[in-house]
Amino acid sequence: MKTYTIAAIPGDGIGAEVVSAGVEVLQALAKRDGGFKLTVDHFDWGGDYYKKHGTMMPENGRDLIKLHDAILFGSAGHPDIPDHITLWGLRLAICQPFDQYANVRPTRILPGITSPLRNVHGPELDWMIVRENSEGEYAGVGGRVHRGLPLEVATDVSILTRAGVERIMRFAFKLAQSRPRKLLTVVTKSNAQRHAMVMWDEIASEIAVEFNDVTWDKMLVDAMTMRMVMKPESIDTVVATNLHADVLSDLAAALAGSVGIAPTANLNPERTFPSMFEPIHGSAFDITGKGIANPIGTFWSAVMLLDHLGEAKAAKRLMTAIERTTADKRFHTPDLGGTAKTTDVTAAVIETIHGANI
Ligand code: IPM
Ligand code: MG
Repeated sequence: MKTYTIAAIPGDGIGAEVVSAGVEVLQALAKRDGGFKLTVDHFDWGGDYYKKHGTMMPENGRDLIKLHDAILFGSAGHPDIPDHITLWGLRLAICQPFDQYANVRPTRILPGITSPLRNVHGPELDWMIVRENSEGEYAGVGGRVHRGLPLEVATDVSILTRAGVERIMRFAFKLAQSRPRKLLTVVTKSNAQRHAMVMWDEIASEIAVEFNDVTWDKMLVDAMTMRMVMKPESIDTVVATNLHADVLSDLAAALAGSVGIAPTANLNPERTFPSMFEPIHGSAFDITGKGIANPIGTFWSAVMLLDHLGEAKAAKRLMTAIERTTADKRFHTPDLGGTAKTTDVTAAVIETIHGANI
C-alpha cells in the first residue's frame, strides 16, 4: 500500500482550525479508500513562532519538508506582525524556492450556495484561474532609500522572464485543453504597461500555436472584472500575472458565494519539489478561536492535493461529499449566512465519506 507524507503547516489565525479539519477529512478518506495511507507531520511555523524565534520558520525549514509528497497550508498573517514579513517569511519562502510557479484557483458555485450575481445559479460559472506564482509583481525586486526624508524613494519592480511566461502559458493552455470547453482568456494590461506585458501577449500568441484546439482571447484586466460580473458564462480557463490573478481570484471567490470556500494549489508541475495546497481566505483574526471558520476551502484544497498525488478516486469522493454537505443549509457557517460550526461541517463531510452511496 502506498503511504504519502504530508507536511501540515497551519500557520496563523483560523489556519489551525481549518487545517486540523482538513487532516481529519484526509485521514477519513484514506481509511475509506483503503488503497493508501497518509503520514502527517505538523509544523508550528507562523506568527507565534516568529514571536519566539524572530523568524516565521526555522532556517532549515525547507529541508524539513522538501521530501514530503505535499504540503497542506493554513494561512500566514498576524495582527502584531507586518504583513510583508509574515508573507515573505513563510508562504513565499516556500512557494518561490520550491518553484511552485503555477497557482491554480478553481471557482464554482457549489450546490446550496447563492451567488451575489442575479440570475447566476451554478452552471454559468465554472472557472479555473491560473496565477503566475513565481515572478511578476511578486518578484520582490525593488528598494527603499532615504527613509523618512523628503527625498525618500521606494520601488517595487515587476519582473517577467521569457522562461517564466512560456511555462505558465504552456501550463494554462494545457489546462484549458483538458477541460470540455477548451477556452482560455489571457489577461493583460499591455495598453499601459508597454514592455513586460507586451512580451506576455506575444508569448501567449506563440504558445497558442502549440494548442490548435484551444480557443483563446486576450482581455485587459480592468475589462476582465466587468466580464466576470456581466458575462460569467463566457469564461472558462484564465491566465494572469501574479497580482492580476490575486485580485481577480478574490472577485471570483466572492461571485461564487464566499471566500470561505475557495481553494488553491501552488503547483511545481515538474514535481522536483512538493506542491502546496491552501484555502485562499487567509488568517481571519476576527473569527479566530470561535470555531466558526468555514473548512470547505481547505477540503476543496485537499481534493486538489489528492488529485496531485494521483488519488483521483478519493479526490472525487471528497468533492462529492463537499457538494452534498454545502447543499444542506444546516451545514452553512456564518460566512454563508448559517450558524454551523467548523466541527459540524467536518463531521457532515466525514459521515458522507463513510456513507454507502458515495
Ligand atoms: C492570496 C493572498 C496572498 C497573496 C496574501 C495573503 C499575501 O491574498 O493567496 O491570494 O496576495 O498572494
Ligand atoms: Mg489574494
